[in-house]
Amino acid sequence: MTEKAFDEITLASGLKLKNRLVKAAMEESLGNEKQQPDRCIERLYHQWAQGGVGLIITGNVMVDKLAMTGPGGLALEDEANVLAFARQAQAGQKNDAKIIMQINHPGRQVYKKMRGKVLSPSAIPLNLGKHSSLFGVPKAMTEEEIEDVIARFVKTALLAEQAGFNGVQIHAAHGYLISQFLSPLVNQREDSWGGNLENRAKLLLQVAEGIKSAVSPSFSLSVKLNSADFQRGGFDVDDAKQVVEMLSDVGIDFVELSGGSYEAAAMQGVTKDGRTLAREAYFLSFAEQIAKDTQLPIMTTGGVTQLSTVKQVLDTKVELVGIASALAFEPNLVNTWQQNPSHQATILQPSFKDKTLKALATMAIVRRQLIRLGQGKRVQNSQCSTVTLVRDQLRAARLTKRYLRSVKR
Ligand SMILES: Cc1cc2nc3c(=O)[nH]c(=O)nc-3n(C[C@H](O)[C@H](O)[C@H](O)COP(=O)(O)O)c2cc1C
Repeated sequence: MTEKAFDEITLASGLKLKNRLVKAAMEESLGNEKQQPDRCIERLYHQWAQGGVGLIITGNVMVDKLAMTGPGGLALEDEANVLAFARQAQAGQKNDAKIIMQINHPGRQVYKKMRGKVLSPSAIPLNLGKHSSLFGVPKAMTEEEIEDVIARFVKTALLAEQAGFNGVQIHAAHGYLISQFLSPLVNQREDSWGGNLENRAKLLLQVAEGIKSAVSPSFSLSVKLNSADFQRGGFDVDDAKQVVEMLSDVGIDFVELSGGSYEAAAMQGVTKDGRTLAREAYFLSFAEQIAKDTQLPIMTTGGVTQLSTVKQVLDTKVELVGIASALAFEPNLVNTWQQNPSHQATILQPSFKDKTLKALATMAIVRRQLIRLGQGKRVQNSQCSTVTLVRDQLRAARLTKRYLRSVKR
């Protein structure tokens, strides 16, 4: 079948992808006690590369091991870790796939039990109703802390290049630190890092420019950005359009559009401002609006399980399609589509009414598959969501203890 999905594309850095299908970032929670990838991660990435995607974006890797999105996460901040990451890069480059590392700082989205640094543009805690106390209380960052974070992103990008990755992606979506700076709800600073959009985007731009000037020109740089936060008064599609324009002067390869945060899990198809998202390709209508006004290649991720949806996305000006959960259940999905274009991936969904529990259970179910694949086991096609969530929480508690021992907190 002659689908655009299987056409190659060469990005501005010269990175050539054999097709338009991208494994989107999923934090694997399979790091070892030193926040490094181990054999399980290699096995997992090997399967995705063999499965036919053109590009693999790793789960987020932290720029500071004292500020982690969760236990079992990865951090890359010094040379000692390069070798372990190099093995992950090699696994992800099998079968002519390319691999880029997503790099992130969680800002205020840090679990209290992790006892890490909880930084934010302003001292505004997460509002998750009765679940808010699960998260640490943030402090407003000083100028020195902002400069330190920028330097960390640049260092991690350089280390990723040394480790053999084809590029890095800056995580500026989902309510993490850079997304917090972009959000008028969370960023209430009165200095040059807050106020108008240009100021709120300064952290993202300085990180992007810093990386661009440090790495070689053939090292790919991209950004994951919210098309909107889907919260009243939050970062919205017009802001996203302007930020994409600002980024086009930096010389990046593409912008991946997603949406939401821990407060409004739009990346799982749920909003908090009354807007509804499409059943598949959640952010397509927003991505279309943004893509029509820019020369930068746009990718969109969220809710894709069928090749017909991929086609619908690529029939617009969007150039790349990200797939996350479906590739946890079916790492071979792209090869399957080449044999059987009407195949639809099956994703297990939890049945909780409470939005926070539902979001946690969704993550837990997908994470369970990643762990099983990493251990060389088959995916599970049926499971009780309550049991999976409880097991995930018990595992997280164990890994949190291990983390606290390793960073001596
Ligand atoms: C277990 C899990 C971990 C995730 N980790 C990340 C991450 O590290 N970085 C990121 O940008 N998005 C992350 N996401 C979000 C996905 O990249 C994607 O935006 C979202 O799941 C919607 O796509 P999907 O419907 O294809 O899963 C994660 C999603 C899941 C389910």
